[in-house]
Amino acid sequence: MEGRKLRGMFGSQTKPETEEGQNTMSQAGPVTETSSQAPGTVSARRAKTLEAKGVNLYYGDFHAVENVTMTIEPNKVTALIGSSGCGKTTFLRSLNRMHELTPGASVKGDIYLDGEDIYGGGVDPVAVRRLVGMVFQQPNPFPTMSIYDNVAAGLNFNAGKVSKGDKDAVVEKSLRGAHLWDEVKDRLDRPGSGLSGGQQQRLCIARATAVSPEVLLMDEPCSALDPVATLAIEDLIAELKKEYTIAIVTHNMQQAARASDNTAFFNLDESGKPGHLVEIGTTEDIFTRPKQKETEDYVSGRFG
Ligand SMILES: Nc1ncnc2c1ncn2[C@@H]1O[C@H](COP(=O)(O)OP(=O)(O)O)[C@@H](O)[C@H]1O
Ligand SMILES: [Mg+2]
Repeated sequence: MEGRKLRGMFGSQTKPETEEGQNTMSQAGPVTETSSQAPGTVSARRAKTLEAKGVNLYYGDFHAVENVTMTIEPNKVTALIGSSGCGKTTFLRSLNRMHELTPGASVKGDIYLDGEDIYGGGVDPVAVRRLVGMVFQQPNPFPTMSIYDNVAAGLNFNAGKVSKGDKDAVVEKSLRGAHLWDEVKDRLDRPGSGLSGGQQQRLCIARATAVSPEVLLMDEPCSALDPVATLAIEDLIAELKKEYTIAIVTHNMQQAARASDNTAFFNLDESGKPGHLVEIGTTEDIFTRPKQKETEDYVSGRFG
């Protein structure tokens, strides 16, 4: 039955597969689930499991990520750590089929969302990107759009199906969920670009959640933020995991230790070689009793 979510339902969308279109596309989709939900309710829905099996990722001939098998558990935060260039971003982008938007990029292996292969035949990548939302390193609100329209961007895609009242409700619910409502409720018609960096990142999180994804992927979402804004996002992540499955790339060890339940450590043997998963475990185990020496060296700050 889940198959229907990824196949068919969204097959008529024919937006071009370009890097520029990615934000709109990743938010695009119908709003049936969202609009049927009362604003402000915290649903007790079960989030979904993402499983990577033997995933290899390439940029042309370059083998960037080798043979990753790991499970990203529902209602938990999984941190991806490891030194720069070891393939964290590349791997994250394969989890919602964004990797293939890079010209020449390719994927081998399987990724399952609650048992369904997101790379399976007939699966619509646009539907995958709606169910598996992404928040980027640099906050990227649509600069000329109002705060309101930024959140409603994914809903606008199917404007014909959404009433103004439903849209208002989803915008409010998403902004409340992103801990931003009180700060912006009196200026919803002002440009999103007028907000502080931390507010912009929370706006992007509101935009990502407005279309009711199952999984949220975050690629160093705090790297452009000051410590106070960073803590606000970490609080928000702790809140969001009640509803979502979350994977977050971070280069900040303290952040991984504070904000995640599980940690996956990636490494590469030398520059030019593919990155790989060294080990994954509970964050406590990875930071206090890792199985591999290289993990211990990394988390104790001996390299990276
Ligand atoms: N668009 C691209 N084209 C070619 N190589 C890329 C591209 N993006 C990243 N890479 C390479 O893939 C490897 C992994 O990069 P990345 O996933 O960005 O690592 P991380 O996020 O861990 O710093 C690096 O060697 C990087 O240079
Ligand atoms: Mg990266």
